[in-house]
This record gives sequence, structure tokens and C-alpha cells, in this order.
Amino acid sequence: MQLIRTISEMQQFSKGCKLSGKTIGFVPTMGALHDGHLSIVRDSVKANDVTVVSIFVNPTQFSAGEDFNRYPRDYDGDIEKLSGLSVDAVFLPGVDSVYPDGYKTYVEVRGLSEKLCGQFRPGHFAGVATVVLKLFNAVMPTRAYFGLKDYQQCVVIKKMTADLNLDLEIVLCPTIREHDGLAMSSRNAYLSTEERLEAPLIYKALTEAAKSVNDNSLKTNAIAQILKESLSEMKTLTEIQYASAYDPNTLDEIKTGGITEGQRVLIAVALKIGSTRLIDNIEVD
Ligand code: PAF
Repeated sequence: MQLIRTISEMQQFSKGCKLSGKTIGFVPTMGALHDGHLSIVRDSVKANDVTVVSIFVNPTQFSAGEDFNRYPRDYDGDIEKLSGLSVDAVFLPGVDSVYPDGYKTYVEVRGLSEKLCGQFRPGHFAGVATVVLKLFNAVMPTRAYFGLKDYQQCVVIKKMTADLNLDLEIVLCPTIREHDGLAMSSRNAYLSTEERLEAPLIYKALTEAAKSVNDNSLKTNAIAQILKESLSEMKTLTEIQYASAYDPNTLDEIKTGGITEGQRVLIAVALKIGSTRLIDNIEVD
């Protein structure tokens, strides 16, 4: 497994793979790898000749006052985990090589970026889209893999890929959960013992709301109500940022007309337990 630290070295590696006709699977991450990441890496290893994983804590997707400085970093542990998975290269660019002095260019996926998490994290998706495009230009993947826990990120990246005619396939991977249902996330490490004990109620609330979607008399404001009531059982809950039923393509809240038969529905929440912001979702057919 090669460790690659500069964009030009990464491009050279990928050009070599392409010249020999190899497909490249790419898994972008911010490190602090957990089983959710590793499951995505395994998907890439199965489907591609070569797999590249990037580890880069991207400063432009954190707003002032967010957790950029304390975001968990464990480069040695991450490399050890990846070395057991037939990964061919780990790309670890420095902040200065991604955003050199005088850096000025940002990618904005308008509309989709301002909804849901975008209302509470202004600029976040411009930071994500920008770094993902830069990473794509460095790795030149055949397929790039993203986890559906970050549903809005998946929608934004798919839209950017289509709008900018990027020549690669975006593969979306299912959310991997702890045994008690909590979606795996690097930020779970911030939770206190009490907060961690209550956190599985997020998934419980989502599954209860999902069951009710199949009750065809139910209107979406009833789904929001079920979510809010179930989430409020958590003593450590400090804020619900959003919790409702949304159109999976537009990310608009499905309004009072209710859900029609055959409609796909995204049930999504963002909340804070103590000071830790967590997101989760379920898609229901
Ligand atoms: O999902 C993440 O870990 C990040 O948003 C990503 C896609 C690696 C971009 O920094």
C-alpha cells in the first residue's frame, strides 16, 4: 500500500493505473475510520482493480466555531486499518497542497446546498463540493464511493458530477450501524456515556416514523410529529434542527398533501445531543 502526499504524485499514480487499463475505485474520507468507512472500502476493493482512499480533514467544510480543530485524527490507526483491506494507495494531502496561498476557486451546487444541513452549516456544501472535485482531479477515479448517512452530501455530489459532466460513476453505500442502531460516525466519539446510551433513540424514532409512512392515511406533518415526540424522550437532547419527511431528489419537505402511493420518501433528522451534532436518515419506498 503506497502513501501519497502530493497532488502531482497522486495524478502520476492514477495515470499509470489508467495506462495499464485498470479501474480506480476512490473512497474520500476525513479519517478517524470506523467500520462504516471500512465497509465502503471493501465495496470499492471488490468492484475495482485499484482502490485509493483519501484522508483529508477539509477546513473549508467547517464553519467558524465548528469542530475542525478537535475533529478526531488518527492517521497511524487509519493506515493500519486500511493495510488489512487490499487498498493500493492512501492519499494524505496537506492543507497547503490542497489550498495553496491565494486559493480562490469554489464549487457551489445551488439550491440543494442551502436545504436541510445547509441552513445550519452555511458554506458547508461548497466546501465539500470543492474538495471532492479537487480530489477527483487528483485521483481520477472510475468510481467514487459515498455513504448514505450523509444523504444530502450524496445528492449534492451526484448533482455536481452530472452538471459538470465528470466522467466517473458515483456509488452510494448503505449506512452501517452499531448493534443498537446508532449510525456509525466519527463524531460519535464526542458523546459522553449517558449521551451514547440515549443516541440509539435517533434510529428508533426514524424506524417508527418509517413504519407510519405505510399507513396511507398519514400526512407528513404527522411524521414530523412522531419524530419530534420520539426524539424528545432523550434527556440529553439539546436541539432538533430538522426532523421530517423529504423528497429524496429535491430535499424539499413533503408538505400537507401527504405521501402518495409509490412515492419514495426520505425521513431525515439533524439534532444535537449535548453539544454534538448528529444526522441520520432512512429512505422508504
Ligand atoms: O464525508 C466526508 O467524510 C467528507 O465530507 C468528504 C466527502 C471526505 C469531503 O471532505
